[in-house]
Formats: sequence, structure tokens, C-alpha cells
Amino acid sequence: MPILGIESSCDETAAAVVRGGRDILSSVVASQDDVHRKYGGVVPELASREHLRRIVPVVREALERAGMDFAGIAAIGVTRGPGLIGSLLVGYTYGHTLASALGKPLVPVNHLEGHVHAVFLEAQQPNGAARKALPELPAVCLIVSGGHTVLYDVQPEEGNVSAPPEYPAYRCRYGRIGATRDDAAGEAYDKVAKLLALGYPGGPVIDQLARHGNAGAVAFTSPRTRGNPFDFSFSGIKTAVLRHVRSNPAFEPEIAARSEALRAGVRKAVDLLPLCSRATLDLVASFQRAVVEDLVARTLGAAEERAARCALVSGGVAANSELRATFEQEAAARSLPVFFPSRPLSTDNAAMIAAAAYPLLLAGRTARNGEDAQANLPLA
Ligand code: KG4
Ligand code: ZN
Repeated sequence: MPILGIESSCDETAAAVVRGGRDILSSVVASQDDVHRKYGGVVPELASREHLRRIVPVVREALERAGMDFAGIAAIGVTRGPGLIGSLLVGYTYGHTLASALGKPLVPVNHLEGHVHAVFLEAQQPNGAARKALPELPAVCLIVSGGHTVLYDVQPEEGNVSAPPEYPAYRCRYGRIGATRDDAAGEAYDKVAKLLALGYPGGPVIDQLARHGNAGAVAFTSPRTRGNPFDFSFSGIKTAVLRHVRSNPAFEPEIAARSEALRAGVRKAVDLLPLCSRATLDLVASFQRAVVEDLVARTLGAAEERAARCALVSGGVAANSELRATFEQEAAARSLPVFFPSRPLSTDNAAMIAAAAYPLLLAGRTARNGEDAQANLPLA
């Protein structure tokens, strides 16, 4: 049962063909990083224009790589929200029109549920990086990206077993445990990178540069979130980085030098490294340590409180090497299994949307009349 997945919630135009919620026949992602780079963040108007330009060729390429044509597709799974409304509308309208023209079912998918399913999908790959046992439910899931930082309780739907023997059993219901009150963690990475002239997106570069710094050099206080201990807050750390940089004029010349290098087309961490002082490397290492420790502590705290059988971690920031290593280490100390998608499935992609659509299709949850894309579509 091959499902064509379409994703366009933010700045990646993506299409994929996934069979049975498990076999990835193709996964195509057209990134818009080059378009948004000079602004240091996603510009919504430019994003929807780019989606319009790319959606048709991206879908065609996904079918070609899967060795298929439209006739071979059983259904279309498309991201309905949450995300940027102009971006969502391009993919949703296209998917909707395609489904009507072909007479195939349309399955609207919540982007966040897609990120959860990226973990299930990865765990079912025969040689997947995360191949251990299959994740058992109930679980807690941290979704951490440029647009979201949120913790969910993932329960099997009634009648579903807790140790699913195969994919269709991953039909879940979700409870929101906590979320960021200000910036998403990936947004904090991107803003710190912009401030220090390290390029865009900031996460991957800071990930690599942080390895060369002393994470204990700059002390950041752990953000306190009154009321709900499982809420997050990253704007304080970001502001502390800004204050640290402003209070030390020695940062100025190297920031100017890196800005120049970025303008000349330098992108890679290895090329930026020689342009970074020890103070900058220590600062990014300390920033990353503070963010990672906070994400890990709250997620594992929630897992313990909810008596979860495992922790799932997904979204662009889940690609971070220190986050992965710290999760592995801390979870092992508590004998709690932790599951990540592979890196290509961590960041936005359409394979996770096609995978999430599969159990929904089996349950008959196809699009209702008049249902449209929704920027703030809740998962729970
Ligand atoms: O999931 P994603 O592709 O798109 C959103 O839904 O936001 O995530 C993109 C975010 C960006 O903020 C980027 O800086 C961050 O994920 N990111 C990382 C890493 N790779 C991507 N953050 C930290 N470490 C990484 N290795
Ligand atoms: Zn996402």
C-alpha cells in the first residue's frame, strides 16, 4: 500500500513514497536554505513562493525514484498543519487537487505527528541507525526543531497493544506535557549563530564548532518555568549570549571577519573554525551544553513521572550530536530506551508524513469536506 507523502509546512518542499508505513521507496527534500540564508531565518513570503516553484518537480522526482506513476499510489498523505499558512496551503491544495483528480483518498496529517512517526519509521528500517527493539508505548516524545519545542505523552489508541508487532499498531493518541514559552530550541541556535556570524541554519555549524570549545567556560543559569516543570524557555539563554558578547569588545573584530567570510560564500564549520577565537568556541560550547542539559533533564523527568516505556526524540535539533550522546548516556543510567530518527528523518521530510498517514488511512481518517490547512493545528 504505497502512500505518497507531501510536506510543505516550513521551508522544505518534500515528497516521498512509503509502502506499508515502513518501506521508504523514495524521499526527496528540496531545502530553501539558500533563499533564507541572507535573512538568518525563514521569510514566509519567500517560502511559499519557493514551494510553488518546487512542488510539482519534487513530487515527480519522488514518484520517479520510487519507480512509480500516480496510478500505483494508494493514497496521498499531506501535512495540514501546524506551520506557516502560505507554505501549508501550497502543499495541501496541491495534494487535495491531486487526490480529487486521481480519485484517491487524501489523508491530512499533523506535522508534529509526522515527527513522532519519523522515530517509528526509523526503528523499522532493516539496517536503521536506531535499530534496536521497536519502541513500546506509552512513550514520551520530545519534538525539538526550529519551529517547535514540545513534549508529548504518546499512548496507544484503545485496543492497540503496548508492544506493537507491526506498523499499523502505531495508532496513537497524544497528550501535551509541556512546550516552550518563547523561542524553540532550534530558533535559539539560529539566533545565536546570527549574532555570532556563523551562518544559517545555525544548528549544524554550532554542533561542530562546540566540539572545539570548553562547555564549562561560561555559566548559564538553567531556565525556570514556574507552574509547569516540563515547559521550556530558551530566550533567556539567547539573551545571556547577547549580553556576554556585548560586554566584551574583543568579539567585534572576529564577528566582522566572519560576516565578510559568509558574504564571500563560506558555509562550512571547518572553514569558520580558523576565524573563531577560543572565547567564541567556549561560548558556543557552553550555550549548547545549557540547551542540551535542559532538553534532556525535562524529557527524562517527564518520562519518569509518566512511567513511560521509552523516550522518543525528533525534529531538526534531534540531529545534534551532543543531544544524542547526552540522551543515550542519561537514559541508559535510568535503564530507559531512547529512540531517534536517522538524521535525514530528523529534519523536515515527507517520508514521516507518508508513514503517519498509513495507520490513519487504515482507520478511515481521510479528509472531510471543507477541511483546509491550519497554521496552528493542535496535536493535543
Ligand atoms: O525540523 P526542521 O528541519 O524544521 C522545522 O520544523 O523547524 O528543523 C530545523 C532546525 C533549525 O533551527 C536548525 O538550526 C536545527 O533544526 N538543526 C540543528 C541541527 N541540525 C538542524 N540544531 C542543532 N544541531 C544540529 N545538528
Ligand atoms: Zn518540523
